[in-house]
Amino acid sequence: MSEAPLRDLWYMPALSASLKPGQMRREMLLGEPVLLGRMRDGQAFAMRDICPHRGVPLSAGKILAEDTVQCAYHGWRFRRDGVCSAIPSLTEDQDLDPEKIRVRSYPIREQDGLIWVYVAEKPGGAVKGAPPRIPMDHPVPRWVEIQTFGCSVDHAVIGLMDPVHAAFVHDHWWWKRPMRLKEKHYGPLPMGFTMSPHKPSKPAYSLLGDVTTEITFELPSTRFEIVEGKLFGKRFKVIGLTVCTPRDAEHTDTIHVMYWPAWAFFLWPIFMALGPTFMADDRKMVELQREGLKFNPNLMLIQDGDQPAIWYSRIKKAWADSVENGTEFVNPVKERVLRWRS
Ligand code: FES
Ligand SMILES: [Fe+2]
Repeated sequence: MSEAPLRDLWYMPALSASLKPGQMRREMLLGEPVLLGRMRDGQAFAMRDICPHRGVPLSAGKILAEDTVQCAYHGWRFRRDGVCSAIPSLTEDQDLDPEKIRVRSYPIREQDGLIWVYVAEKPGGAVKGAPPRIPMDHPVPRWVEIQTFGCSVDHAVIGLMDPVHAAFVHDHWWWKRPMRLKEKHYGPLPMGFTMSPHKPSKPAYSLLGDVTTEITFELPSTRFEIVEGKLFGKRFKVIGLTVCTPRDAEHTDTIHVMYWPAWAFFLWPIFMALGPTFMADDRKMVELQREGLKFNPNLMLIQDGDQPAIWYSRIKKAWADSVENGTEFVNPVKERVLRWRS
């Protein structure tokens, strides 16, 4: 599998609530320094965090009242589209048009409390597709946990959808069940695959009554768990979104956001108490894995338990090829039943 993170896709580096009007900061994304900010008018923006004049990070400057970013070194000002709007050192008779100078800007979308940034293969290229929506009415992020995993995006993603590690890695009384045979139906999605809705076997789900759960994965690294049930005759959803955001070749932020209806507020303390531990289990495992990967061992993907990882590497390759050749992406996943013990 090619190690490089995929381009021509939307990535989610931050939540809306983390950026107040007038704030900006550096966010690494796929090894590139990105200035992520919010103008005073409330609009978020993203541009390359390197001043085209002499390379100072624009994040060291400030956002002016007129909604431009001012570089800390010589005060060049940039609009949210990356175009330079002013060079203070110029005299009136010097006919240099600042607007001919620009810094790369990234397409950005803000929705469902999340900020998505499009990383194009060719800067300025046409945007393909849209970031995923949270499939519920009026989604509000209710609980968020972000942990930096010391690994590439691939190992974070593979760990995220590995169906057979739980009994060993998440070995907690509140999660564990004796190992048994699982049989799940999978089918393709436009950019990935889904484990069709089924009754979850973990007792923790019984807090929500009689529910079904569906788990989806789509490129670049978006996993949804959609829990649906019915309470007092009304249908409801509780949705977990997990994304793996590649910061650089060796750091990936795993960002977990929960959405639930306001009445399910009692879930909050449960997630507060258990969520960080659960994610830390996975983080510690990939960090342990790094100790082995240093020596470049050959790895194995075996049978149905590793099939999601096999699909991931095939989908990833199909996407990389489609970007490279300018051809349409064809999802290699076919409908299938997978069986494993966990
Ligand atoms: S380095 Fe940014 S204005 Fe000179
Ligand atoms: Fe896990």
